Formats: sequence, C-alpha cells, structure tokens
Amino acid sequence: MEIQDRIVVVTGGGRGIGEALVRQFDREGAATVVVADIDFYAAQDVAETLGGVAIACDVSKEKEVRHLIDKTEAEVGPIDIFCANAGITFKGGIDTPPEQWQRIWDVNVMSRVSAAKHLIPRMLERGGGAFVTTASGAGVLTEVGSASYSVTKHADVAFAEWLAVQYGRSGLHVSCVCPLGVDTGFLDHDDPIHQYLADDAITAEQVAIDTLQAIKDEQFLVLPHTRVADFMELKTDDYDRWIRGFQRMKQKWERKAA
Ligand SMILES: NC(=O)c1ccc[n+]([C@@H]2O[C@H](COP(=O)([O-])OP(=O)(O)OC[C@H]3O[C@@H](n4cnc5c(N)ncnc54)[C@H](O)[C@@H]3O)[C@@H](O)[C@H]2O)c1
Repeated sequence: MEIQDRIVVVTGGGRGIGEALVRQFDREGAATVVVADIDFYAAQDVAETLGGVAIACDVSKEKEVRHLIDKTEAEVGPIDIFCANAGITFKGGIDTPPEQWQRIWDVNVMSRVSAAKHLIPRMLERGGGAFVTTASGAGVLTEVGSASYSVTKHADVAFAEWLAVQYGRSGLHVSCVCPLGVDTGFLDHDDPIHQYLADDAITAEQVAIDTLQAIKDEQFLVLPHTRVADFMELKTDDYDRWIRGFQRMKQKWERKAA
C-alpha cells in the first residue's frame, strides 16, 4: 500500500516510536496523521508541528478506541492505516501483581482487539486497509526481566498473525513490528537487561522507516534488528538450545546486576 494521501492513525503517537511513525508518515505524504495518546498534551505537541490532529485516547479502554475511530472517520475521513503502537511494560516475574497483569493485557493486547473490532469491518467494506502493530522482539523471543511483557507481546504477535490469516485475502494488510532495543524513554537505563538492549539500540526513526517500507511492500514481519531473525531460526531449529542460550544470558545479567 502506498503512503501518499492516506489517512493514518498512530496510537502512542506523542512520544518514542509512535512519534517517529507520525513524522515518517508526514514526510512520505500521508494526507492526515491522527496522533492519539493517553497524554493529550504530548499528542498535541507532535500534531501541531505537522498540521496533524491530536486525539486523547487511553487504548486500554474499548470505548475510547471506538471514539478515536469514530471521531477520526467523522472529522478527518476514512482511516486507511491504523498503527496500534502504544504499549507499556512492567518488570517482574511470577510475583507480578494481578492489577499489573490486567493493565498490561489491556494496553498491549486488548487495545489491538478493540481497534480491529471497530475498524476492520469498515476497512473491508471499503475494499481494504492496513493494520500495523508495534509488538516487540520479546513477542517472538522472550524478555528476561518481564513475564507480563513477554506474554502480552507474544499475544500481540499471535493476534496480528491471526488477523493476517483471517483477512489477508479480503484486502487487509497486516504488519507486525518486532524490534529489540529502541532508543526511547521506554528503556530503563538502571535495569541490566534494558542496558543490554540500550547498548545496541536503534533509533525510533529507523523503526519508522522500516515500518513504512513494510507497509509499502505488504510485508508482515518487520525486524529492524536483523539478528532477531537469527534467534528465531535457532528457536525453531533447536528449541532446547535456544532456551539454554537465554538461560546463560539471564545468568550473565544477574551477575552484572549483583
Ligand atoms: N523502546 C523499545 O526498546 C521497544 C522495543 C520493542 C518494542 N517496543 C514497543 O514499541 C511501542 C512504543 O514504545 P516506545 O519505545 O515508543 O515507548 P514510549 O514510552 O517512548 O512511548 C509510548 C507512548 O505511548 C503512550 N501510551 C502509554 N500508554 C498508553 C495508553 N494506555 N493509551 C494511549 N497511549 C499510551 C505514552 O504516553 C507514550 O507517548 C510499545 O508497544 C513498546 O512495547 C519498544
């Protein structure tokens, strides 16, 4: 799908990868980019610099996602490309409190389900569209320090795969973006695992460039860090060896943190 003259929505567009996506869509000639964020002022700051539209939206709430889609379609026009990008993380393992499990499930997974539910039928009726999710390398591998992030990002990838299979032949294009470390406020520089990710983090702009290219090429999996593909190959080739590799990495990070 071409980007020129398209109407685009980016959630979490006020900062980080979302902001970079917004700016890249604008550079490549999108008609209007709607910047949606739970932080309305951040969304407004970005939208103002490029004549876009800012809409406040907490993507964990189905009502607000529906409002974002309805308002965009009523006031801007039919959405061609929807980027379900907003996401959060919590550190922790089996001790993660239920409220955090619920919150991260709602933000990282149900946000995608709500957007698909309210937008994809309209896109299909109009002949198609693109649905893009910013998942993570953790969605195809794992995130050592966070059980909830690993699980929800796997679910994010699983839902994107399901959408692609279900609607790919009816005009919907799906892209699933799976980076490792990206230099945004998301990375916690006091955390040894995030420090490792930060060591060879790429810019949000690079992720945005790769994502728009994937939309144009109608490519499903977007791997801005090519070594994710190597890890995935190792995983399917020898699952136990892959797990041992991550066990070694975890030990290394724990020693570094001690
Ligand atoms: N930065 C990384 O290293 C990295 C790596 C892989 C994947 N990701 C994924 O990329 C996406 C964007 O991350 P980022 O690095 O830009 O993070 P960020 O924290 O820099 O920006 C996230 C933006 O989303 C907004 N947001 C948070 N919760 C929201 C909600 N409930 N509703 C609407 N907006 C909300 C925030 O206000 C913020 O503007 C996330 O899904 C994240 O999981 C990030």
